[in-house]
Amino acid sequence: MKLILLGPPGAGKGTQAKTLVDEYGIPQISTGDILRAAVKEGTEMGLKAKAFMDAGGLVPDEVVIGIVRDRLQHDDCAKGFILDGFPRTVPQADALQSTLSGLQKELDLVISLAVDGEALVERLAGRRACGSCGRGYHVSYEPPKKSDVCDVCGAALVQRADDQEETIRKRLAVYDEQTAPLIAYYRGCGLLRELDGMKPIDEVRTRISDLLKAV
Ligand code: AP5
Ligand code: MG
Ligand code: ZN
Repeated sequence: MKLILLGPPGAGKGTQAKTLVDEYGIPQISTGDILRAAVKEGTEMGLKAKAFMDAGGLVPDEVVIGIVRDRLQHDDCAKGFILDGFPRTVPQADALQSTLSGLQKELDLVISLAVDGEALVERLAGRRACGSCGRGYHVSYEPPKKSDVCDVCGAALVQRADDQEETIRKRLAVYDEQTAPLIAYYRGCGLLRELDGMKPIDEVRTRISDLLKAV
């Protein structure tokens, strides 16, 4: 299964990708997660990316295209992959097509998750993640059993640096301007399937499974 999850910040791309990893035995490739790991490690790429990410803007195309081109060649992508947060611009989508054709692979599906703007702000402002194992939560929609503590490993929950309201609004504007055109791009290729991302997490998961079974 070679899949793109497309959608604005907070649409549920990461939440859904994580459950598909177990179901299909294919990796989640989140450029946001890869960049955050580089920031944490303090690599040269991480240092450059941090300023763009903190401001809610996009990291330059050539940086993320290079990351994904390398990642797609790892052995664990042999059976497929879930791209989460990539591509985000038309040049990134074009670069993905040429990388995949070089590897003699083709995308199966692009699933677009649609969610209202105000719901996105609420989801992102309430998002938390475990600082140790990375498990995701939401203070209202997916709360941990004990406030601010991970159910799985007991470590403290943390908030992403770019999940402050002002930065969230900037990220949403960048999405509308630079990423939303990919909906038409993939509709034009006949690969797009649109889902109502306003539904509860489990219901979205079931709808995605139905689409994947039909491939
Ligand atoms: P990235 O990490 O990709 O962030 P994003 O696209 O802004 O998306 P999010 O991770 O915020 O949202 P999500 O859709 O994964 O939502 P989630 O499942 O967590 O990118 C971060 C930054 O890195 C970018 O701003 C940019 O600077 C840089 N970057 C990354 N990729 C790049 C690229 N390709 N090009 C250039 N720059 C790039 O859900 C959110 C919350 O809602 C959670 O708390 C969850 O529990 C809850 N939730 C999920 N689904 C539901 C539901 N159905 N109902 C209720 N609550 C729900
Ligand atoms: Mg995410
Ligand atoms: Zn944990």
